[in-house]
Amino acid sequence: KLGEMIDRPVVLVGLMGVGKSTIGRRLAQSLGTPFVDADDAVVEAAQMSIPEIFERFGEAYFRDGERRVIARLIEDSQNRPYIIATGGGAFADDETRALILDKAYAIWLDSDLDTLVERVSRKSNRPLLKGKDARSVLADLMAKRGPAYAEAPIRVVSDGGPQTNSVARILAALE
Ligand code: S3P
Repeated sequence: KLGEMIDRPVVLVGLMGVGKSTIGRRLAQSLGTPFVDADDAVVEAAQMSIPEIFERFGEAYFRDGERRVIARLIEDSQNRPYIIATGGGAFADDETRALILDKAYAIWLDSDLDTLVERVSRKSNRPLLKGKDARSVLADLMAKRGPAYAEAPIRVVSDGGPQTNSVARILAALE
């Protein structure tokens, strides 16, 4: 079984709206491995929502907490590989990226701007988009973070099609 052959956690990285959580959950189901969402784990550790963390303590504080949480999830996962979905900025943070590249399989989920804009419109708890034009923020982040995401050893396109296609592409990339 493929799930038993994966000897490290699989960490999904990529921009907001690309489908990391949805795809991660389905991928875990197909592999029979546990799934964790790093954003949810941050919220649980902080006992505060992500917008609240940004508002009260700022982005740099969030990044530090996010890094600690991801480090812990990866440690917990060494003998029982998890699928871990990360928040869009995690892999753009130099230290967090180094940690993920060292101890996990990073998979970059990449998508076109139209698809991202469409998908982020369905959820409104993202502080980086609050009160801003999602398309221009996402275009900006795409340009800024692209080189970091490109350091992931695997890139999978998650376009406007069904998320099951992306899961199949990841499974093929892991074989
Ligand atoms: C962020 C993405 C969010 C969340 C936070 C910051 C980012 O996660 O971690 O709002 O910097 O791109 P999603 O990618 O799951 O939306």
